[in-house]
Amino acid sequence: MDLNLKNKNVLVTASSSGIGRATAEVFLQEGAKVIINGRNEDKLTGTVKELSLKYGSGNIGSFRGDITKIENIKSLKKFVLSKWSGVDILVSNLGSGKPLSNNKLSVSEWERFLDINLLSPVKLLDEFVPVMKKYKSGSIILISSITGLERTGAPYGYAAAKSSLLSLTSNLCAELADFGIRVNCIVPGNVYFKGGRWEEILRDQPEIKDKYIDKEVPLKRFADPYEIARSIVFLSSGCSSFTTGAVLVIDGGQTRRYGL
Ligand SMILES: NC(=O)c1ccc[n+]([C@@H]2O[C@H](COP(=O)([O-])OP(=O)(O)OC[C@H]3O[C@@H](n4cnc5c(N)ncnc54)[C@H](OP(=O)(O)O)[C@@H]3O)[C@@H](O)[C@H]2O)c1
Repeated sequence: MDLNLKNKNVLVTASSSGIGRATAEVFLQEGAKVIINGRNEDKLTGTVKELSLKYGSGNIGSFRGDITKIENIKSLKKFVLSKWSGVDILVSNLGSGKPLSNNKLSVSEWERFLDINLLSPVKLLDEFVPVMKKYKSGSIILISSITGLERTGAPYGYAAAKSSLLSLTSNLCAELADFGIRVNCIVPGNVYFKGGRWEEILRDQPEIKDKYIDKEVPLKRFADPYEIARSIVFLSSGCSSFTTGAVLVIDGGQTRRYGL
């Protein structure tokens, strides 16, 4: 199946490691042009170097900046539009469930989680949707989490923010349909990679693999970031042209609900 992504302009936020990086790589494999993003300069340039070695430097660009901040999102838009006339595919990947406090009702924690996981994607969309509307075609992918679907023990503010992305997907897909833009949501389960949150958790609590993953996940393992990335790329492509407003759960069978 040809995904027909050659020379498409793809922006993947928070993508110098993890799911975002894997997503950028799969798009590059498909011949798309990709701009990646992260805050740490060394990590970002290291990723650009590695991906350039594999796929050539012509199709990859990078923007360093904290995209929880509106001024950086505006600079990101300027940067993108200095390179491309528009954006075909936008993957809003920024998110974090790492708590700074054990108090799951801490208001400052809620504010932080809502800012990173909900308001930052909204700020990104507010800047980039008008750009995408101009071309009357395109695809937007939001990244939620299974903790937005059902109770997992994750911080409440994170879970609430990720639930809200499901509602945003549904509302936005209806608004943007007339502009030829599809909006879909990916819902990952537990994704392990070096330097990621699960590596950190397992270092402190190695028993989690037996007590949580083996017990709760029918496939009894973590996902690899590429197992999420390939679905993101498929949903972005014309091969899923009748799919909008969809919520795709990729969790090794962990969530128990039947559909949504
Ligand atoms: N991993 C999982 O098990 C899992 C499960 C369900 C859902 N998710 C969701 O999947 C998405 C990706 O998660 P992940 O675990 O792959 O990534 P991650 O480890 O949380 O983040 C990796 C990337 O985000 C960048 N980043 C972090 N904060 C940033 C900021 N403020 N501005 C710009 N870039 C930033 C990092 O670079 P710098 O540090 O250099 O900025 C890095 O490139 C998130 O939305 C997450 O909530 C993950």
